[in-house]
Amino acid sequence: MLIKKPDYIRESEVTDREVYLQRREFLRKAGAVTAAGVAVTAGVASQAAWWFSSDKTESPSPVPRGESLGTLIKSPYSTDEPQTPYDDITSYCNFYELGTSKSDPKDNAHFLKPKPWSVAIEGECARPGVYDLEDILKPHPLEERIYRLRCVETWSAVVPWVGFPLADLIKRFEPSSRAKYVEFVTLKDPKQMPGQRFPVLNWPYVEGLRMDEAVNPLTLLAVGLYGEVLPNQNGAPIRLVVPWKYGFKSIKSIVSIRFTEKQPLNTWQDQAAREYGFYANVNPDVDHPRWSQAKERRLGDLLKRPTLPFNGYAEQVAHLYTGMDPKKLY
Ligand code: MTE
Repeated sequence: MLIKKPDYIRESEVTDREVYLQRREFLRKAGAVTAAGVAVTAGVASQAAWWFSSDKTESPSPVPRGESLGTLIKSPYSTDEPQTPYDDITSYCNFYELGTSKSDPKDNAHFLKPKPWSVAIEGECARPGVYDLEDILKPHPLEERIYRLRCVETWSAVVPWVGFPLADLIKRFEPSSRAKYVEFVTLKDPKQMPGQRFPVLNWPYVEGLRMDEAVNPLTLLAVGLYGEVLPNQNGAPIRLVVPWKYGFKSIKSIVSIRFTEKQPLNTWQDQAAREYGFYANVNPDVDHPRWSQAKERRLGDLLKRPTLPFNGYAEQVAHLYTGMDPKKLY
């Protein structure tokens, strides 16, 4: 999710992981590190200055593998496609609160303290309140859901998430008939989220779903991956996963879930309404102004593959959009 891509950076450079890693390594060796591949807006430039400043730890300790989450229900919604390796999923991330390059979130993961954590349930519902994460999670058996993840930047992955249906949580808090949408908000705390010290986005990160999307059985609240507690860089301790939408809808490190009458203004639409909308359904026939969406490159693959409508989940969700203009669903 580059803020603005200068014309001289080709798509292949932006999306190809190998090229990205090689370039970063080259720059590191040359001692000429800049915010490579990222447009120089005031926010990004100052963030780059912070990131490479001398008071930052040179090599932060690696994030240890998470605690095992025990026995998990196997979901019928899982794909049997080969899973993207753990190291790729956890080191090639988009999490601007922890930095704008793909490896920053892993390198800055130690700033985020996911314990203790609470989530505010707000708005149009019978049981609003601030709940400890343990109380949010207690009634929900955890299941493994192996889903395709498709980023609007045209890379993709197959991730074995651990979580539970958002629909089950929504039912517990009894939304009223006025609740037409659900809004989600990420933690705002520049001490834990060093990227928030800079005006890269309008913090905090916000996302939203229409109520029928939120209660669709595919929509997941994830607390883990590969059978273990979610690493910080992937959105610990609790994040959304909406597999038929571009990855930016899958908001990380959630502190608020609010039932609303009005459609929430999600962060990327707020940032660049010409480029990002509210629905963000994966659609190979509707291009992003800067990227064709016809194909994608799975992390680790050399060749691109065709992108599927609704990321391959059309059977489960296409009916939610009957009669709507696909261009408006971007
Ligand atoms: N959530 C927050 N709070 N901040 C972010 O920058 N990036 C989004 C999404 N959730 C983002 C976020 C984008 S663009 C993508 S593609 C996915 O997270 C990536 O999830 P992953 O890093 O676990 O693969």
